[in-house]
Amino acid sequence: MLRQALSRSRQARGIASRLLNAGVVSAEGTGLRAITTSSLKAGALPIPTEAHGVNYHNPPMEGGYSFFMPRQTLIGPGALKTAGDVVKSLGLKRALIVTDSGLAKSGALDPVLASLKAHDIEAVVFSGAMPNPTDRNVEDALAMLKENNCDFVVSVGGGSSHDCAKGTALLATNGGRIHDYEGIGRLHAAPMPLVSVNTTAGTASEMTRFMVITDTTRLLKMVIADAGVTPAIAVDDPGMMMKMPKGLTAATGMDALTHAIEAYMSVISNPVTDASGLHAMRLISAYLRTAVHDGANAQARDMMSYAQFLGGMAFNSASVGLVHGMAHQLGAVYNLPHGVCNAVILPIVLEFNAEAVPHRFIDIAEALGLGQLSFEEAPGKVIEAVRELSADIGIPANLEVLGVKPEDFPLLADKTEVDICCMTNPRPASKEQIIELFRKAYEQGSEGQPTKQAAAA
Ligand SMILES: NC(=O)c1ccc[n+]([C@@H]2O[C@H](COP(=O)([O-])OP(=O)(O)OC[C@H]3O[C@@H](n4cnc5c(N)ncnc54)[C@H](O)[C@@H]3O)[C@@H](O)[C@H]2O)c1
Ligand SMILES: [Fe+2]
Repeated sequence: MLRQALSRSRQARGIASRLLNAGVVSAEGTGLRAITTSSLKAGALPIPTEAHGVNYHNPPMEGGYSFFMPRQTLIGPGALKTAGDVVKSLGLKRALIVTDSGLAKSGALDPVLASLKAHDIEAVVFSGAMPNPTDRNVEDALAMLKENNCDFVVSVGGGSSHDCAKGTALLATNGGRIHDYEGIGRLHAAPMPLVSVNTTAGTASEMTRFMVITDTTRLLKMVIADAGVTPAIAVDDPGMMMKMPKGLTAATGMDALTHAIEAYMSVISNPVTDASGLHAMRLISAYLRTAVHDGANAQARDMMSYAQFLGGMAFNSASVGLVHGMAHQLGAVYNLPHGVCNAVILPIVLEFNAEAVPHRFIDIAEALGLGQLSFEEAPGKVIEAVRELSADIGIPANLEVLGVKPEDFPLLADKTEVDICCMTNPRPASKEQIIELFRKAYEQGSEGQPTKQAAAA
């Protein structure tokens, strides 16, 4: 059974790597065996192949790996103060600030505007990036950029503002419509420089080569992946995250956890993405509850800012998986918060993946503070811990609470099947299996998580 599952996961990897074009991968195992450390508990069964430990989890790619990072990242308390000097050094003159209406009204832009002004950089504000930003938002921002002759873009906000800004910077130099760039590596010119000031913790979009834009005609989320999309400068100052309300802190924190876990399980993970993902998991399991319930706790905010950045470092090269593939469709069809969708689906997909890669759960369990477990014990304990964390921070129990309609499952499954995130999931899923996973996510219940009535209130 395990052997069959591993064979399926290798096939998935071969397909994913060809489509992602991130290097040539031998679909066959190389015969490498993990050098396990003391983390392989005495008494735990030896793992047949692709074990946890100090080595590749997947056969290494022929041609090696690529890592995609911003040219410079300013991170930690006070990082925003440094940003003005760094932007000035790029010789940029006129910014289009892309943000959402809530942040624009809240005064969150004030320190950014003040910093630009202090450095003699002009700025105009586009505040029309909606949650799950759309193709139309990008077009509107682009029109404003052109009218004002801006020479660079600054995003201030969470993933929605960053992604809308990425689309705007891309079209400013590449032309056409955002739909033309759906998929992997389709840019033909470098986008306009982008500086991303992050206010959630989070999507890590301020440092990734991905953007996710809702196609308002097809009602699906287009994923665009290209090294050129990566912002030039990322700013992760936890001071910008202190005012996140509980629900947003919880949702974005679970998004970061999903990035870390999915990247760690990805069929194209490698030792660097593994290290980033595992440390993100450690920080999230240590600090997310505090960040949610004591938002004024500066240390928890700071550590969650690092955690989401580490999650970004992991998935920016290793990509994510089926959780994201399914969650994207819920965002596009019902405009639901991305992090909440991930959090609700995560335990269901982990159960599904456990059949193929139970050994991957050993190190995840350890990173989540569950101790050293065998590959037979680890999946169940990890899934339980994820459910407990979600319940503790008020994530709704299931898709029914979120208003998802069972009659839409076949349509959602169709859209999921073509989402590029699914290519790196360790276990391929058929349409029927995806429908079943949506059904399980709809029906699951967990004591302590908000009921339908509580969520509506
Ligand atoms: N490009 C990527 O690599 C990537 C990765 C994951 C997710 N995403 C995308 O990111 C989007 C979700 O982004 P998000 O979860 O960061 O939320 P968001 O950007 O949609 O923001 C949600 C809400 O939070 C508010 N908000 C943001 N920062 C705040 C703060 N500091 N204080 C108070 N309120 C604040 C905003 O005003 C908005 O109303 C989705 O569209 C998702 O698909 C992109
Ligand atoms: Fe995400």
